Amino acid sequence: MVKAPLKRWVAVERFIVDHLVSHDAALDAAREANTGAGLPPIDVAPNEGKLLHLLALMVQARRILEIGTLGGYSTIWMARALPADGRLITLELLPRHAEIAQANLDRAGVSPRVEIRVGPALESLERLAAEGVEPFDLVFIDADKQNNAAYLKWALRFSRPGTVIVVDNVVRDGAIIDARDQDPGIQGSRRLFEALAAEPRLTATALQTVGSKGYDGFAIAVVTG
Ligand code: SAH
Ligand code: DHB
Ligand code: MG
Repeated sequence: MVKAPLKRWVAVERFIVDHLVSHDAALDAAREANTGAGLPPIDVAPNEGKLLHLLALMVQARRILEIGTLGGYSTIWMARALPADGRLITLELLPRHAEIAQANLDRAGVSPRVEIRVGPALESLERLAAEGVEPFDLVFIDADKQNNAAYLKWALRFSRPGTVIVVDNVVRDGAIIDARDQDPGIQGSRRLFEALAAEPRLTATALQTVGSKGYDGFAIAVVTG
């Protein structure tokens, strides 16, 4: 979030959450643990977490890859859409974030299905490739934005026709349209849009979002070939 969110966006988000996103001790506890540990408050909003959950249900995901764990809030939402024998692998740079996430996942009861891999995601992705990992059904990219185009390449490599790829924070208060913006994250997300547009193996769109996290957006793609 770059600027303060509008009060009305936040009120409508609360309305949506109150109606459609059931309150839940484990999810609330995860957010509280993250705040208490001083993690940046950049988890997806609750209605966005629910969207990731719905997308996982829509594709009947059995295997999910997440890049950027933080405290595991989005991880819990997606893991809860998995069948009992489903798997979610989530990649996190910082051991401290991974530790807090692990505790949150334990509390939410999803740890048996989730594996956190600590280290720079580009290295973890190389390792997954070397291990001959099976394709994922859903990939959520939400880490360092300067590597978004590289993460898309990896997501494609680990995909099959029908795999859904979601990328967070692709609007950033509208900064995305400014080619001269020097922020490496903006430049990275601009390269992501170019890569999405140029890639014949997928079809994509993006949605602008407003709410407690300000004005931002998601890119969503489905692998077609
Ligand atoms: N998906 C989480 C929020 C992720 S915030 C949620 O919605 O709940 C972004 C996370 O990416 C941070 O925890 C940050 O430490 C991590 N990160 C940043 N650079 C990274 C990298 N190179 N590799 C892996 N993780 C990275
Ligand atoms: C930031 C990162 C995120 O993933 C997000 O959703 C919001 C903000 C950030 O690094 O500022
Ligand atoms: Mg994000």
